[in-house]
Amino acid sequence: MDTLSTIPRMPDVGWLGSFGPRTAQRLAFQRKLAQQSAPLVRGRVLHLPVYFPCTPEAAHDVLVTHAKSFEKSPGFRVILHDLAGQGLFTSEGTLWRTQRKMMSPLFQPAPIHRFADIMRAVAERSAESLRDGQSIDVAHETTRIAMSIVGKALFDVDTFDEADALGGALTTALSWVNRNLASPALVAHVLAMDATGALATRAPEALRPFFERANDKVQSPFMLPGVRDPELLSAVALVNERMQRMIDERRKQGLTRADLMTLLLTAKDPEGVSDRMSDKQVRDEAITLFVAGHETTATALAWSMYLLARDPEALAKATAEADALGDGAVSPWDAHKLAYCTRVFREAMRLYPPLMMLPRRSLEPVEVGSHKLPAKSLVFVSIYAQHYREDAYPDPERFDPDRWLPEREAERHRSSYLPFSAGPRFCIGMHFAMMEGPIVLATLLRRWRFEIDRDRVIEPDDFATLRPRGGVPAVVRARR
Ligand code: HEM
Repeated sequence: MDTLSTIPRMPDVGWLGSFGPRTAQRLAFQRKLAQQSAPLVRGRVLHLPVYFPCTPEAAHDVLVTHAKSFEKSPGFRVILHDLAGQGLFTSEGTLWRTQRKMMSPLFQPAPIHRFADIMRAVAERSAESLRDGQSIDVAHETTRIAMSIVGKALFDVDTFDEADALGGALTTALSWVNRNLASPALVAHVLAMDATGALATRAPEALRPFFERANDKVQSPFMLPGVRDPELLSAVALVNERMQRMIDERRKQGLTRADLMTLLLTAKDPEGVSDRMSDKQVRDEAITLFVAGHETTATALAWSMYLLARDPEALAKATAEADALGDGAVSPWDAHKLAYCTRVFREAMRLYPPLMMLPRRSLEPVEVGSHKLPAKSLVFVSIYAQHYREDAYPDPERFDPDRWLPEREAERHRSSYLPFSAGPRFCIGMHFAMMEGPIVLATLLRRWRFEIDRDRVIEPDDFATLRPRGGVPAVVRARR
């Protein structure tokens, strides 16, 4: 076993350490990670060391082989506290295990296949609403579509017309999250969490209640800059109010539909305190699924359209596949009918992984890439770096959907491609998204041509997801 001192150090990007304030710096750092042959390298956030697994094998150690030895980085929980609370994305331990087990059956391929018609109907509604010669932002349109699909499929609510208000509120909330990620204030917050947590168990008996209360308090981001900004507060309030209304309406209508909302509202309290889950827990789970279920897919769809517009050959192939569907249904779902659109969607997520980093912290000493890391080590798996490794993806900058032909895919390590992560905490919505992406692409391409200026390079912006900066402006042209 190699010692910590033999782990190569990455040069700093700025005074914060490995995380520069601008997206371009952060992406450049991750491209450097992609070029490393060492399994593990070391960077820092302020004074705290951060370890970055570089090879797919080392990423696999963290996400799969030793998944039990890690928790999500506590900073993540703090920063998402007001928006997603203790939903599936942020929860840990028994709460996470119970909730994941309860929801998993609904996200298996067979139950998800029932949603193919909803996906196509929502995409068709969007296609219907467009006009020849209209200027649109493709990213805005894909957000409307993805938000409506997740609302209808999982909660049986229609958000198509509300998408702008909800989307605006979520953008405000997520941009605050993004501004504070890797900020010195968040690091200080996490240190305060650790200190009060330790004192709550180790301080003299009489003082423990005080530290317990202090530790409770620092679970929320109360001391981060801008947390009381009126615009942020009203955005979070709007999202909460819409979710609560959805819960109230469904309770009133009776819980007869076989969908996710019914499952949540009839499930047992995961803590075993009462015979049903609290409205707060239902709300946390619903918001989590609602946000995680559309922001990522919308981003991946917008990049897919952008990349296709810049590659006439790939566009012709994807359009021919869409046309071959005729007016035929996509349901029952048959992935082979949309094999090329699926490859486009996968390649878009390689080049622009919607979530590009998986921050973890070790719970105990653990082996990663043949180094033993101590407990409480920060280990960040860069999805982006894996996707730009030249040994897995020759000419990694090139958009090439045929990288996803089965025989070529079989040559790569499983953890070379991680848009949905891997191991026990992999994305619960993976099958949902992998069906939705190709269906939406094909439905839009069948009807319209999206003219996107091929000379204009759109840069990624690492918002909460890796969004296209300034959107994807396009002019819609009728095909038939
Ligand atoms: C292209 C679309 C999507 C991408 C790229 C994506 C990506 C991811 C990734 C990378 C994670 C792991 C995060 C981590 O471990 O830190 C994750 C988790 C999660 N995703 Fe997705 N996701 C997508 C679509 C969806 C959809 C459609 C849903 C729900 C309908 C969803 C719900 C979730 C939830 C609830 C988690 C947390 C799972 C857990 O920790 O048990 N995602 N997603």
